[in-house]
Amino acid sequence: MWAELLPVGRDAATGGYHRFAWTPPELACRAWFLDEARRRGLEVEHDANGNMIAWWLPRDGTRDGAVLTGSHLDSVPGGGAFDGPLGVVSAFAAVDLLRERGIPLRRPIGIGAFAEEEGARFGVACLGSRLLTGAIDPARARALTDGDGRTFAGVLHAAGLDPEAIGPDEDLLGRIGCYVELHVEQGRALQKPVGIASAIVPHGRWRFDFGGEGNHAGTTGLADRRDPMLPFAGMVLAARDAAERNGTVATVGKVRVVPGGVNAIASSVTAWLDARGPADEAVRRTVAEVDEAARLAARPHRVSVDLAEESYTEIVDFNLALRDRVGKALGGVPVLPTGAGHDAGVLSSRLPAAMLFVRNPTGISHAPAEYAEPADCLAGVEALTAVLADLACG
Ligand code: GLV
Ligand code: MN
Ligand code: MN
Ligand code: MN
Repeated sequence: MWAELLPVGRDAATGGYHRFAWTPPELACRAWFLDEARRRGLEVEHDANGNMIAWWLPRDGTRDGAVLTGSHLDSVPGGGAFDGPLGVVSAFAAVDLLRERGIPLRRPIGIGAFAEEEGARFGVACLGSRLLTGAIDPARARALTDGDGRTFAGVLHAAGLDPEAIGPDEDLLGRIGCYVELHVEQGRALQKPVGIASAIVPHGRWRFDFGGEGNHAGTTGLADRRDPMLPFAGMVLAARDAAERNGTVATVGKVRVVPGGVNAIASSVTAWLDARGPADEAVRRTVAEVDEAARLAARPHRVSVDLAEESYTEIVDFNLALRDRVGKALGGVPVLPTGAGHDAGVLSSRLPAAMLFVRNPTGISHAPAEYAEPADCLAGVEALTAVLADLACG
């Protein structure tokens, strides 16, 4: 099943994946998911927020106290093959193993594929799980736009969903006892095949809008320019400095230059800052310092600066009891925090959640070099199988 998913949305030149929510490649991944569920006789539930769950139900039809696993199928622009799909594929494989081994199911196991986890299309990461848990106002979500100006509401409608129905789903949440997400490790921290997450560090996204004046690159003297590229450049350098001062990480990985002509001074620049760190205050200070530096750099060029917070997630400390139980089921594996955001972090505000990590020998993620050895992936499937056996079959 991995082989079927592998070519979907892959750029042949770079090897990077482009699977933005509700674009054709991501729709193909959804079709793959439905097919895998159908082949196994699993019942698929579509919630109002674009999330899908394939249910394996116990013989007695129990629907409560479910163990949810899974991950997401969307990607960042030019992402790796493993971030997201590894958790979904491993979940199907773990269900297969439990069945092959004849382990009787006592509680439902759900395989989830959460919508727009990366926020690569509409800007807010984990949009599907945020809506499900009530972590984002549905009205705000409906109004989010993609790079082409299409609203989330419009895209949902085109996908056959009712945008007015999005939001928290207490019925679904009430049926889930816990969530366990398997994910490729996204840094160099894990030296063993499999590990467990202790925490997700505070992280967020901020949008800087620099407003200047479009003009001719050849006829406009330096003194007459209101060039937004200059404070933008200052802001990028300030992000690095602020991160070093505050013990955080800060990234400007996306920028929109309008109109984007070689021979035109830009009229506006929009840049996105991603900042993360071990503590809220350090992250907040980083952003405040970048903001101050951007304004200082903008003033002499008569450029306006607007700052908007697009999303913020406070520190997530995963449920200790569940983490201990998962650790026991695995017989002692490394426990590590992560700087990457996950649906498990969002869901942990409403139910016990845990994460398994599979070693990444390149230490690279959100890029084509992201990798996990086949043997480590199999160790991940065995680990997830053991955890599901303990939680759903014990
Ligand atoms: C999502 O993968 C994130 O951590 O940015
Ligand atoms: Mn990711
Ligand atoms: Mn992911
Ligand atoms: Mn993520």
